[in-house]
Amino acid sequence: MCGIVGYVGTQSALGVVVDGLRRLEYRGYDSAGVAVLADGRLLLAKKAGKLSNLEKALAESAEAELRSGLAGIGHTRWATHGGPTDRNAHPHLSADGRIAVIHNGIIENFARLRAQLQAEGVEFASDTDTECVSHLLAAELAGVPGSPAALAEAMRKVCGKLEGAFTLLAVDAQAPGAVVGARRNSPLVVGRGVGENFLASDVSAFIEHTREAVELGQDQVVLITADAIEITDFDGNPAQGRDYHVDWDARAAEKGGYDWFMLKEIAEQPQVVADTLRGRIGETGEIMLDEVRLTDQDLRDVDKIFIVACGTAYHAGLVAKYAIEHWTRIPCEVELASEFRYRDPVLDRSTLVVAISQSGETMDTLMALRHAKEQKARVLAICNTNGSTIPRESDAVLYTHGGPEIAVASTKAFLTQLAACFLVGLHLAQVRGVKYADEVAAVVAQLQEMPDKIEKVLGTMDPVRELARELATASTVLFIGRHVGYPVALEGALKLKELAYMHAEGFAAGELKHGPIALIDHGTPVVCVVPSPAGRGVLHDKIVSNIQEVRARGARTIVIAEEGDEAVVPYADLLVRVPRTPTLLAPFVTTVPLQVLAAEIAASRGHDVDQPRNLAKSVTVE
Ligand code: AGP
Repeated sequence: MCGIVGYVGTQSALGVVVDGLRRLEYRGYDSAGVAVLADGRLLLAKKAGKLSNLEKALAESAEAELRSGLAGIGHTRWATHGGPTDRNAHPHLSADGRIAVIHNGIIENFARLRAQLQAEGVEFASDTDTECVSHLLAAELAGVPGSPAALAEAMRKVCGKLEGAFTLLAVDAQAPGAVVGARRNSPLVVGRGVGENFLASDVSAFIEHTREAVELGQDQVVLITADAIEITDFDGNPAQGRDYHVDWDARAAEKGGYDWFMLKEIAEQPQVVADTLRGRIGETGEIMLDEVRLTDQDLRDVDKIFIVACGTAYHAGLVAKYAIEHWTRIPCEVELASEFRYRDPVLDRSTLVVAISQSGETMDTLMALRHAKEQKARVLAICNTNGSTIPRESDAVLYTHGGPEIAVASTKAFLTQLAACFLVGLHLAQVRGVKYADEVAAVVAQLQEMPDKIEKVLGTMDPVRELARELATASTVLFIGRHVGYPVALEGALKLKELAYMHAEGFAAGELKHGPIALIDHGTPVVCVVPSPAGRGVLHDKIVSNIQEVRARGARTIVIAEEGDEAVVPYADLLVRVPRTPTLLAPFVTTVPLQVLAAEIAASRGHDVDQPRNLAKSVTVE
């Protein structure tokens, strides 16, 4: 997820764009860059690191013209393809320096496009998927006199060659006074000003200039000049965006209108799960993880897997274990990173250690992977932060595409970690031949339905918000689950602990009778995560028994169960329905109500939902 800004008007484009990037830095801060049109020239400045690095470079720049230009684009990056370096920073130029492009999203067919361009003699200056677009636009405009209309037409033609998710902005040194944008599966909004117009990832970039916005639709191209906004589809037919007035303040706009980043990030989960799957599944449903630098033979040699992680990432590993063992038949252990190396685990060259980390800087996890490497094990990182320490020190990495997770309490990172772990599990099964291609494709098809199912759950959370207000004064909440529902119960309890500062505990439902059931008192809230009856009926029947056991002792049962499961109705004081989902994939939908519950209870208690007490977003000490 990156921040992009475009401007054409009467102000200094550099000033407007940099201010806009500052408001969008929450969307990514691996690098920042600008391109400005001034006196027929295209001027570029870009730097790795936070926006402040670029601002420092601009302050030292002799390019006074940079400040005089009245049209320009800017980008703050969350790296997906290519590390966070100066050369990979956006904007990216065509070989002749005529065209500059910035991009948010993932161009799935970039490898093929890059190979075609290189075969035509194009030399690439970066490792990014984006740079393909600048060269493709230049090819369309070769020999064509520059004009805003020509740039818009070139953009339409190039978009017809791209697959995946993209928001693109481009400028042409031979078309002053114009910025062209395009979008597919990624946001782009126009700011309508007086004598000036804006483009951005979201309205927070320009609402101090105008609150009149136009949201672009799927597969649309927009041309802005100081006095005009022209929208078409990819075929050039006139099209309409959605006009609206923005009544948020700037800070609220960064949160997408939500009160807290955490609520925004919960709502982003359908998109980021789709983004994490995107580009990694072939046309016939095969898994494509070429980016993971482990050979098929490396993967065939694996005879043991350890997943090491902390907190929510550890819970993702616990879910992944069920899937990986079921699909690959490779023994898979999940260990708290802080415990892993102190128990002298048995590791060798045939061991695969999977280190899961959102931040990529968690010291416990880093120390665990260093120990694994000392023992000659292969290490695969699953990480959300491109270029961070854990992937850098691992043999291979599979990045989740969750975008920056601002709230300390991890939500979208969790679901994207599940998606990434499932891709790894299916890839192992595919490479080792323990699943046929059609079997892999069948599970992939189920995975690809998850974004829509998560979206459906998000639309039915009002009863959970009401429950949160009721539970705001509770002294404890217990969570029970079986199979993959057990890690979900642990995750629900962790969310409540870290956000509401409330005692909460997750249990394997079968463990209740071995002691914890003594905790049940009259009215004790117990959240019960129920597996699908269609999956493994015995699991379902047993947890229904567990629900009866706690209810018989006075518990207030909050049951998370799939649509159509009528067996739980008599024992649910509150029934939260989730869409029917295959057993192993159920955490994608059963986790969401628990995230919302914790956030809303914390808000009801007047807590800072994004920055809970005593916690840090990345724990870089052991
Ligand atoms: C979860 O909500 C917490 N923020 C915490 O448990 C977190 O998951 C843990 O510290 C691991 O962080 P990482 O994923 O960045 O390694």
